[in-house]
Amino acid sequence: MDRLKDKVAVVTGAANGIGKAISELFAEEGAWVLVSDIEDEPGNATARIIREKGGTAEYCHADVSIPGDVAHAVGIAAARNGRIDILCNNAAYLAPDFHDILESTEDEWTRCINVALLGTHYFTKATLPYMIRQKKGSIVNVVSIQALAGMMTSVAYTATKAALLGYTLSAAYDYGSHNVRVNALCPGPIQTRIAPQADEPHYKWQCDNTVLGRVGYPREVAYAALFLASDEASYVTGVTFPVDGGWTSK
Ligand SMILES: NC(=O)c1ccc[n+]([C@@H]2O[C@H](COP(=O)([O-])OP(=O)(O)OC[C@H]3O[C@@H](n4cnc5c(N)ncnc54)[C@H](O)[C@@H]3O)[C@@H](O)[C@H]2O)c1
Repeated sequence: MDRLKDKVAVVTGAANGIGKAISELFAEEGAWVLVSDIEDEPGNATARIIREKGGTAEYCHADVSIPGDVAHAVGIAAARNGRIDILCNNAAYLAPDFHDILESTEDEWTRCINVALLGTHYFTKATLPYMIRQKKGSIVNVVSIQALAGMMTSVAYTATKAALLGYTLSAAYDYGSHNVRVNALCPGPIQTRIAPQADEPHYKWQCDNTVLGRVGYPREVAYAALFLASDEASYVTGVTFPVDGGWTSK
């Protein structure tokens, strides 16, 4: 219940799916959570559900690819008690379909990079000064097993996610001496709105590629994020943590 007691957490892309589950679990464990997203209705709903269950959360509209939005969101979180203990960079541009090298468009590349990579950078850059001053902080970057294993027709998304692994290592190296930990979480096939439905061939393909023989659920990713965010992971930094039913273990 109290694994994040009194901590201030910021979660991006928190209106839906994995980010929503992470926000809810962080709040259940005692954190005050800034739920940030660009989808205001489900974002407000996430924060409201947390409060209705007795937790503390506030919604803030913030496009991670716009530095002014990021500064505004981080300012709201810091206004709580002058601290930011946890940052979870979860937002990504998720198109209905991605493409291979020959078919991918400039727009697809730009959106992937601006949201997942630069969005992570903007939020991290705005949050680090608080963590450095506190001599403590945990940053959890939600990446993907697509940074670890080749997958079809999604070169812009895959390359962006792989870059996030490098970003994570670089940040962990540079800020470890300030006791700021930075880790990468790599979900496998997780049942969110972007996932194939059970009657689609792609769903069976996903199940068959795991060792556990099934897809995962947002709450299962949230528990891994909770560990990395909490003091239980006080000696863990710079790691790549797959939550993938064993997909990348084969
Ligand atoms: N679902 C999976 O199978 C899976 C697998 C591996 C990695 N991931 C990663 O998990 C993360 C969450 O994905 P999800 O499956 O929960 O998808 P989702 O669509 O349910 O949630 C993504 C959220 O990000 C928000 N978002 C998009 N662009 C944004 C922006 N510019 N600024 C702020 N918020 C923005 C969306 O509004 C949405 O609420 C992503 O980083 C994704 O790459 C998902």
